[in-house]
Amino acid sequence: MTALTLSTAGAATLRADALVVGVAKGAKGPVVAPGAEAVDKAFDGKLASVLETLGATGAEGEVTKVPAPSGLKTPVVLAVGLGAVPEKDETYDAETLRRAAGAAARALTGSKKAAFALPVEAAEDVEAIAEGALLGAYAFTAYQGGEKDAKNSKNGNGAKLPLAEIALLGAKPRDKAYKAAAERAIALTEEINRARDLVNTPPNDLYPESFAAVATAAGKEHGIKVQVFDEKALAKGGFGGILGVGQGSQNPPRLVKLSYTHSKAAKNLALVGKGITYDSGGISLKPAGHNETMKCDMSGAAAVFAAVVAAARLGLAVNVTGWLALAENMPSGSATRPGDVLRMYSGKTVEVLNTDAEGRLVLGDALTKASEENPDAIVDVATLTGAMVMALGNRTFGIMSNDDAFRTSIHEIAEEVGEQSWPMPLPSELRKGMDSPTADIANMGERMGGGLVAGLFLQEFVGEGITWAHLDIAGPAFHEGAPYGYTPKGGTGSAIRTLVKLAERTAAGDLG
Ligand code: BES
Ligand code: MN
Ligand code: ZN
Repeated sequence: MTALTLSTAGAATLRADALVVGVAKGAKGPVVAPGAEAVDKAFDGKLASVLETLGATGAEGEVTKVPAPSGLKTPVVLAVGLGAVPEKDETYDAETLRRAAGAAARALTGSKKAAFALPVEAAEDVEAIAEGALLGAYAFTAYQGGEKDAKNSKNGNGAKLPLAEIALLGAKPRDKAYKAAAERAIALTEEINRARDLVNTPPNDLYPESFAAVATAAGKEHGIKVQVFDEKALAKGGFGGILGVGQGSQNPPRLVKLSYTHSKAAKNLALVGKGITYDSGGISLKPAGHNETMKCDMSGAAAVFAAVVAAARLGLAVNVTGWLALAENMPSGSATRPGDVLRMYSGKTVEVLNTDAEGRLVLGDALTKASEENPDAIVDVATLTGAMVMALGNRTFGIMSNDDAFRTSIHEIAEEVGEQSWPMPLPSELRKGMDSPTADIANMGERMGGGLVAGLFLQEFVGEGITWAHLDIAGPAFHEGAPYGYTPKGGTGSAIRTLVKLAERTAAGDLG
């Protein structure tokens, strides 16, 4: 993981491989952003015109590298676009800084050390820049080549390694708020990057048992109690949903409970994650073209895991219980068939009409189990439906809830931490589409509004009177396009920042 420090050094005096400055889109061309005054001076005040000559406009995501003049201690200046100059008396918003820092860190892959001289007005800016830089400086290289050639910042295949060291300039290291902001960003992004690693790990290595082992080890390290229900315990407990999904695989399912508690906690938050370590569709097999990225189907569980560990590392004054519903959905002679009826942990029976609608089965059991402890709120996170991707695209997750105010709060929190989300309804008329002639409910309903149908199914397994929200992250969990901002290819760590902020708000007593 990339190291990050706050530095009081001037932009012209720090020794590094590159110096990052911001450039905004002014009315008459690019404008050098605050924080880079000393750098501009080393260019005799002509940095903006040099950048313009090189074709820079200041547009968001744009990266321009310029050889540094002799007055600087770095060979290269990297100007990253910040978009429009803020209105008078306003500053750059956090997500703009986060994305710019991420784009800059990505463009410096293969470099050892970079100094960031981006605009910093307050601790929030330090936090955003640190988050963006640390999330941008991510690469999943565990399976590439042999020995790493760290000296030349390359991995065994000769691919460049992420930027190793970041110094944030313009910060006041002895300022408590600045220091806390940097420390929060470091803890949070380490957990997000760990979740990305889990998502990116191929499913032959990450299966329910190995995922549970990772959670157990992390629990030991961070003082979190971890309880693992193996296939025997699941059978004894009557977890028919989790077992039914996992029974086709050589890799048996697990339910993992992570309990973080704080002595001054007044509230209990439960988080439930869909952890399908591979979703082949089962007997309702997915066609080629729809299964290559289905290792990402445990992204909800990875998000929940990361959020609980982050809450522990940040010492939040709230009890957070994470439930990871882990199974591998495979076709085989022992697999659940379309037409089978499962008895869920709640006692309800489900006719499985489509074995590819497996997420709701493992989550149903976990939601009922989580409800037994009567938490103040439950939030589940899942790559649940292709329909949600159709509705909201690849970057936005849907939020459904049995409580309008809670759904609004989560939407606002997501917005605040820079995650795109949108509130979705749970129209009750869609429930009858899941009526089954054989069982209490079927695991499929109308095709139209499929994401909402899945939400309505989950709602059936939430305990009476418990505030609950469901985040369908099927779109943003796994990024297949070109990297942008701080978002790499592959696992993104979607919803983690929202969950951690929700835990912080709950600790502060800001929610219900
Ligand atoms: N894991 C998939 C949903 C998914 C789709 C995640 C695209 C990420 C990207 C889920 O288990 C699934 O297969 N859902 C089906 C449900 C249907 C059979 C009712 C779907 O969305 O097609
Ligand atoms: Mn599926
Ligand atoms: Zn799935």
